[in-house]
Amino acid sequence: MLKVPTFTSKKKYSSIAVMTSGGDAPGMNAAIRSVVRYAIVQGCEVHGILRGYSGLLDEQFIPLEASSVANIIQRGGTILKTDRCEAFYKKATRKKAADILRRRGIEGLVVIGGDGSFTGAYHLESENKFPVIGVPGTIDNDIAKTDDTIGFDTAVSTAIEAIDRIRDTASSHDRTFLVEVMGRSSGHIALQVGMGGGAETVIIPERKQSIQQICETIDRGIRRGKTSSIIVVAEGQEPGLSSRLAKDLAKKGHASKVCILGHTQRGGTPTAHDRVLASVLGASAVAYLLAGKSSAMVGVQDSHVALVPFKDVIGFKKQVSSELLQLSHELAS
Ligand code: F6P
Repeated sequence: MLKVPTFTSKKKYSSIAVMTSGGDAPGMNAAIRSVVRYAIVQGCEVHGILRGYSGLLDEQFIPLEASSVANIIQRGGTILKTDRCEAFYKKATRKKAADILRRRGIEGLVVIGGDGSFTGAYHLESENKFPVIGVPGTIDNDIAKTDDTIGFDTAVSTAIEAIDRIRDTASSHDRTFLVEVMGRSSGHIALQVGMGGGAETVIIPERKQSIQQICETIDRGIRRGKTSSIIVVAEGQEPGLSSRLAKDLAKKGHASKVCILGHTQRGGTPTAHDRVLASVLGASAVAYLLAGKSSAMVGVQDSHVALVPFKDVIGFKKQVSSELLQLSHELAS
């Protein structure tokens, strides 16, 4: 259970802004709600920025009241919309963004997003001395120095629900299924889904397996009397890896069906876990910002909220749990 920190009430600023950036994740709305409501309770006004850094540059601001965030805690996506902004890689663009925020009387910013969004936030702060706190929101759970990210639990649950359905067909037709999950270049979703979905094996970028090894896993199952198999595949750099694997398996005499879950994992109602996580991290972000902290992410470490400098987060890779990987193989054999 996540421990809720206690903050002494300090208020350095009276006007802040909040945005969501990068891929949407279930629970982002719960985080926005928490940022807005907590800031208002502290006597601070809140501006919403639509469409991430792109909307900031286009000055797409909306006022946010406590009532603006009513009835959104259960909604997937983000009411503030989101974007991946190439232009923010440029220093001059970030200066323009800081100027816009200052001209509007905004004194601090909360960015809910992933590693790319935090990179933009880090440079915005270091080059322009504009205070920013990040909240980790991504289904991938690939952000360093935080055990959890908003949206991961929901995405994993959605994928496991899909696997439970696929298993009915796999078992009825005696088939092998390759189920491809998201996660970009990391295998956190795949490993969790493989474990929770009872997969035969998990193919992740962090631990390469040859076609021969995958065939051996399937054959081992057949020798034990199994007539169907579920193999979870992390998409890796590019979606479609499972289709390529299926072709290679076919050449070795193993027919398989492919199901790419894709963006079904990004949408939908957030789980209770993600709503609570988002609520605690959103409020914590505001508390740290108002206390004068900046250039850092609020993360989860050993069930506690931690404030981690962006420079210790961006560009670092979070390792998959080798113990979980080992256990998932032992339980499947
Ligand atoms: O980062 C979240 C994520 O869903 C990744 O798992 C996936 O690789 C990527 O975003 C897909 O991005 P887009 O929605 O822009 O295609």
